[in-house]
Amino acid sequence: MDFHSARRAVLQLLDAVVPADRPALLRWMRTTRDFDEFIEDNNEIMLKNIAEDLRSCLPIETMLSSEQLALQKIQQQPEPTVHVDAFLYDEDFIDSLCEEGKMSRNYCMVCGSHQTAPLRFISHSFSLVELKFIYNHVLPDLSGKILVDIGSRLGTVLYGGYLYSSALQLYGVEMNEDFCQLQEMVIKKYQFADRIKVLHADICTQDSLLQNADVVIMNNVFEYFLNEAEQARAWEYISHHVRKQGSLLITVPSLQEALSGLQTNIQLSLWVEEIPLTYDVYPEKDIDREALEQIHLYKILQH
Ligand SMILES: C[S@@+](CC[C@H](N)C(=O)[O-])C[C@H]1O[C@@H](n2cnc3c(N)ncnc32)[C@H](O)[C@@H]1O
Repeated sequence: MDFHSARRAVLQLLDAVVPADRPALLRWMRTTRDFDEFIEDNNEIMLKNIAEDLRSCLPIETMLSSEQLALQKIQQQPEPTVHVDAFLYDEDFIDSLCEEGKMSRNYCMVCGSHQTAPLRFISHSFSLVELKFIYNHVLPDLSGKILVDIGSRLGTVLYGGYLYSSALQLYGVEMNEDFCQLQEMVIKKYQFADRIKVLHADICTQDSLLQNADVVIMNNVFEYFLNEAEQARAWEYISHHVRKQGSLLITVPSLQEALSGLQTNIQLSLWVEEIPLTYDVYPEKDIDREALEQIHLYKILQH
């Protein structure tokens, strides 16, 4: 329905209301928060435009032939798993793709039968809700601060930080050149270059950047992209260089979970202190709380 038809429909509806109840209805329409979900803020519109631009440059699975190990690791998961990028495709978008037959939430357990089971979805990017949670509810005021996103991929953390925080500089470090080019395209188009910089590099070459960072973000950076020995080495490197006292580290999943199964000498209790988070910040909204609960915040201890 376009604007003019919708306006006519609303006026017709008001006309049909019992006259005695009309003032109460109008008062409710003026004051209710029930419309909040329809009123998107401008930053959200900008992030959705960026997502649209990126969707048009990427295949639907949002994985590139330049990331063979990640593709293999998804195929080797014990449960059938697909990658659906949560920044590019929100739940409503996935529903419409499923209706069009371009995506499926289920796989057939016995070929040809109607027995199906849900596919496991993973995302290599934060969703819009997760980004807003991080910048509006997890992190303090970032005025004058330096933020580093390790493995910045599509750049979601950087764009979110540009729009939802006052961070002085937002650095993304990404080892995949194709994704660096995509980030550069967005930075140029949306004029983010005054506060965002993307470095095409392995994080294990960025000691001084990590030493100067006030906030470091790590959204499941290594699990799908490095073998176990490389993951252990990268974590050792990070625990040596992310040392600025009082700086903050956000990880998905928790550090305990990310390090379990890896052979490292990292003593978490000497490096960080976990700061408990409140995940109940959107009680009225239908959001993926499990995804929010994967987000963990740590403060770097004195050394
Ligand atoms: C799960 S994605 C995170 C995306 C992004 N930070 C977000 O939250 O939306 C992880 C990214 O880290 C990159 N990566 C993995 N190991 C890296 C390393 N050693 N140095 C730099 N980037 C790395 C991968 O190429 C991948 O694009």
